[in-house]
Formats: sequence, C-alpha cells, structure tokens
Amino acid sequence: STLIRSESFDLGFLARMKKSGRNIAILYGSQTGTAEEFANRLAKDAQRYGMKALVLDPEECNVEDLPQLTEIQNSFLIFCMATYGEGDPTDNAQDFHDWLKQGDTMLTGIRYAVFGLGNKTYEHYNSMGKFVDKRVEELGGERLYELGLGDDDTNIEEDFVTWKEGLWPAVCQRFGIEASADDGSFRAYSFTQYEDGELDKKTIYTGEVARLHSYDNQRPPYDAKNPFLAPVQTNKELHKGGGRSCMHIEFDITGSRIKYEAGDHVAVYPTNDEAMVEELGERLKTNLDTLFTMNNVDEDSSKRHPFPCPTTFRTALLHYLDIASPPRTNVLSEFIEYTSDEKDKQFLKLLSSATPEGKKLYQEWVMDSRRTLLAVLKELPSCCPAMDHICELLPRLQARYYSIASSPRAHPNSIHICAVVVKYKTNAGYDNFGVATNWLSGKVPATGTAIPRAPIYVRKSQFRLPFKVSHPVVMIGPGTGLAPFIGFIQDRAYHREQGKDVGKTILYFGCRKRSEDFIYEEMLENWKSEEVLTELNLAFSRDAEKKTYVQHLIAQNKDSLWEVIEKHGHIYVCGDARHMARDVHDAIVTIVEEKGDKSHQQAIDFVKGLMNKGRYSADVWS
Ligand code: FAD
Ligand code: 2AM
Repeated sequence: STLIRSESFDLGFLARMKKSGRNIAILYGSQTGTAEEFANRLAKDAQRYGMKALVLDPEECNVEDLPQLTEIQNSFLIFCMATYGEGDPTDNAQDFHDWLKQGDTMLTGIRYAVFGLGNKTYEHYNSMGKFVDKRVEELGGERLYELGLGDDDTNIEEDFVTWKEGLWPAVCQRFGIEASADDGSFRAYSFTQYEDGELDKKTIYTGEVARLHSYDNQRPPYDAKNPFLAPVQTNKELHKGGGRSCMHIEFDITGSRIKYEAGDHVAVYPTNDEAMVEELGERLKTNLDTLFTMNNVDEDSSKRHPFPCPTTFRTALLHYLDIASPPRTNVLSEFIEYTSDEKDKQFLKLLSSATPEGKKLYQEWVMDSRRTLLAVLKELPSCCPAMDHICELLPRLQARYYSIASSPRAHPNSIHICAVVVKYKTNAGYDNFGVATNWLSGKVPATGTAIPRAPIYVRKSQFRLPFKVSHPVVMIGPGTGLAPFIGFIQDRAYHREQGKDVGKTILYFGCRKRSEDFIYEEMLENWKSEEVLTELNLAFSRDAEKKTYVQHLIAQNKDSLWEVIEKHGHIYVCGDARHMARDVHDAIVTIVEEKGDKSHQQAIDFVKGLMNKGRYSADVWS
C-alpha cells in the first residue's frame, strides 16, 4: 500500500489514545462498510460532545490491550458489530470474536456499549452484536447503554440514529459531562486541489482499489485489496422471455493462480453509471477533471484518505463512492448549509431530524422511494453542496458477491456466475438500476474490440459438498439460487466419470415460467438423462392457476427427503433469504416431525442439529 501512515500509527492504540487525549475507542466489525461508516459517525458525534474517539479495525490493533483502557479517565469502548452470512462475524472481526469467546482475558471495569448490524430476513439475526454485548459483560465489563440492534431489512439508518439518540445522554450522565451537542459541522478531511500539470501523472489513482497502478501491473496473490482484472470471456442471456434479464458470465482466470471450490463466492468491484456521474458533475457545477487529495485531519487515525488519493472527482464518483444508494441522514443534514431556499432548508432539516415526523419522512421519501443522491438534488434545486464535502460523506462503493456457478474440476480456468439484472421503477417514478448488474450487462466480448474486464476476487465460503461423495445431497435453489448447485453438480458429474460411487443428487429448482426463466434448462435436462441428477424437481410458479413453489414439491416427496437425512446426506438451500429459505426450512421441519415421529419442537431442534453438523447449509441473500 502506498497509503502513508502517520508516525504515531506504529504505536499501539492505547498509546495513541493517551498521546492525543482520547477517551473513546470504537471497534468495528464490518463486511460491506456500514459498520465502519457508523463507527466514524459515532466518532464525529463524540467530538460534538467535547470528547475524542479513535476508530479501530480489530484486525489492525492489539485487542489484548483492551483491559488497559481503564488507565484512561472516562474511557469508553463502543462496538459496531455486523453479523454476516449465517450468523458469522465479519472477516475483520473473526479473530476478535474467537479471542472474546475464549475469554482468557478479563475486561473488568471496561465501560462499553454495542450496536449490532444485522438483517431480520436471516436466521441468526444480529448474533454477533448480541454475543459481544453479553460476552463483554460476562468478562467484567460495565454496560453503559443498552444493546442496539440495526435491521438492514427495514431501515438500519433509523435504528442507528434512534440508538445513538439515547447513547450520548447516557454517556454524558455517566461521566458527568454536560449533555449538549455542538451542532457545528466538522470536516474529517482536508481538501487540497492541484493545478493541471502540478502532479506527476504516475502518482494519480484511476480506480485501483488500493495499490497504485495495480490494474496495469497485476501481481498475485489476488484478494479484496488486490483484485484480479479478469477478462469476461462469455456473457450471455439465460432468460428466454418475460422481460427480465439473467446473465451467465464467465471470468477467465487463466494464469492468475486463483483457486476456488464449488460453493465459494466471487466478489466483483463494479463501476458506477457514467451518465449518473456526469449529471452529478453538472448539477453540482463541478469540473470532474479536478485533481485533488483529501487528508484525514486526525493524524492519529489509521485511515489517511477516505479513498485512494490523489485522484479526480470523476474517478472518485465512478469507482470509489456509493452514489446510487439512498443517502443517509447525516449526509442530508450536512446539505442544509449548502441550501439557499428556506423551504428546501426546512425540508432537509426535517428529513434529517431524529423526531418521529423526521424519521417517518425519511423512511417514506428516501428509503421507500429509494431516492438516489441525484434524485434528492434534482428535487431540491437550491441545494448545492461542495463536491469535496460529498466525497467525504458518501460511503465507499462496495464489491458485490456472487455464488460461483462452476466447479474447478470442470472449469479450472474460469469462474462462472449467473446474475439477474436489477432494474425497477420507484414509487416516485424514477427508473433505478442496480450498479453491478447493469455495469456487468455491458461487458460483452465482441470480435474486433478489446476484451472487457472486471476486478474480482474469490471469497471462501462454508458452503461445501459432503466430504464423502457417496453421501446423498438435496439441493434447493429457485431462481439464481441455482447458481452454486451448477458447480456442485459439475463436481458430482466429475466424480462419477472417475468411476466413484456418487450418492443420490437431488435438485429442486423453481422459476416463474418454463418458457421464460428456466435457466440452464438444457444442461439440467441432460444431467437428468445421464443420471448425474437422480431427481430434477421443477416448480413453475406462474404456469398454472395455482402457484407451485419448491417447498410444495419437497412436501410431496417427503420419503425421498427423509431418506437423504437418514443416509447421512446433506441439505442445501440457496437464494432468496426473505421468504423462500424460511418456508423451505418449515417444510423440512414438518417432514422431520412426521417421518421421525417427533414433536414440533423436537423437529426444530433436530434440524438445528443438522445445521450445527454442517448437514443443512444455507447460502442466502436478500
Ligand atoms: P444495487 O445497486 O446493489 O441495488 C440493489 C438494491 O436495490 C437492493 O438491495 C434493493 O435495496 C434495491 N432494489 C432492488 N430491486 C428493487 C425493487 N424492485 N424495488 C425497490 N428496491 C429495489 N445475485 C445474483 O444475481 N446471483 C447470485 O448468485 C448472487 N449470489 C450472492 C451471494 C451472496 C453471498 C450475496 C451476499 C449476494 C448474492 N447476490 C447474487 C446478490 C448480489 O450480490 C447483488 O446484491 C445483486 O446482483 C444486486 O447488485 P447491483 O449492484 O446490481 O444492485
Ligand atoms: P413467484 O415470483 O411467481 O411468486 C424464483 O424467484 C422463484 O421463486 C419464482 O418462481 C418465485 O415465484 C418463487 N418464490 C417466490 N416466493 C417464494 C417462496 N416464499 N418460497 C419459494 N419460492 C418462492
């Protein structure tokens, strides 16, 4: 990394806190950046209350030093902890989680509060936040404020704002500080603009995730900070009709040394829509070619720049910032000072306020209508924020994950995905486009033009076929939930060809209409006739008067499902987390109840047992 770290960074966090008179440490477990963003917002709040906070990535600090926080007067530890996947800690908090769980170190007298980030559509809602809150108390910590639970399925922004509304008065009371916040705006980064020719071109970032020129000068190993610029060798339509689009994409990984297994995820770094970026530039009367750098005002922070700098506004808006999601309340509240019309000003004030009316308005006008930054600015013509301030406020653009739809045994040199292109009309009348899927839809290889490329890396998952190929498997994946099972089936087909005794391979797939969105139809039918697939169960929901879903077919085939369970088999569910995964779970519990002669509670516990043994796995997203 070329990011320059301040001298004091090499000191432990405790020494850094003492040196700069900080009493609050904020530790975040973040996968998609929201927990980190919230941690930074809390640090800003602390400043408003006359305290100083240090934001910490548990991966980059020595958590063993946490007990010594008590050496600092009025010390306070805040956790912003996201839960990821099936109740797991985020990657950066994995070691911290294990350390805390082990509990060899007491946290006696540590004053703390936890905000958890989760999603109610998932089974293990906010389990990481709940765990940390409980565990720190068990180890002797003093909870200063109740656990906050953010639900990303409804409105995590509101949950967060509501929680911190109560947090700060509690903190001030505990420390005997006057609980009045200074409303003034703080800038976390200083902005430096360069004239044309002032900087050596070679020092300017053009969209790299971290290392300068990493796309021109690719060097394995590839990971989140150093993605592989993969050629898109295939991009074709899988739907035969129906108006929606589902892409089958193949990334060429020849020579990259990237290894993957069926069941892993591939992350893709997308680029924002160029037209949207140009429009933002015009609307904010900003020259997008402006070259600049932004430096953290806080010299003790481990984060020097909000994103790779120096760069141009165009690059920042295209590659580094999330400009398409609905803006958060702290962004809207900073816009007030840039608004000349009194009516617009009052509107923004209400929109970003923590009052019940404000929260309701934000929910309706921003969240439910999914207004983007551009939509907000279009409707408030007198609001013209400075571009550099926007660059400081917006969250980083995140990579998108896709279940890998291939097996390295069949395709050692490519990674396949299938993805539905996200397009929808909002209730305010805007046409919204999903960032990654629409960007990918333009990456189609054509003769005579340069091969399109996309920055990717592989993220290992727990979603794995049984160790013994002879064990039977049931795979349930409607829609794009089919993706990982294409890889699984390729794996099973390979072992079969090798003459191995492969257990039953049972698939449940569901879609709207056979003639429209039955993806990979030919391949699946072939596998069925070659007996690679023992059962191919198809649920078409819109071909008949009455809807047929995968769980209806499972309920009809209870003997087959129970046999898989009895023969040490594995059950896999992939796709929609909101309804499908839960409905399938309930259908399976019903079968266990009936075939296993168990009470409802016993059946639930039995299925939980299967999950703990890794024999019932879900790979779901919402
Ligand atoms: P974004 O720009 O991220 O926009 C999506 C957001 O728009 C949604 O979150 C929602 O808030 C909003 N939205 C979407 N539709 C509507 C609507 N009708 N009304 C209102 N709001 C709406 N996707 C696949 O297609 N295939 C896969 O195999 C796959 N595997 C995944 C595996 C994992 C582990 C995870 C976490 C996700 C997976 N996804 C998969 C989802 C994928 O990561 C992206 O979220 C998806 O492709 C959309 O990305 P985007 O950038 O195009 O859309
Ligand atoms: P529908 O859209 O016609 O209701 C892939 O998206 C398939 O999953 C579609 O056929 C869709 O049907 C179906 N589906 C929707 N909700 C579901 C649920 N709760 N359980 C299982 N399948 C569902």
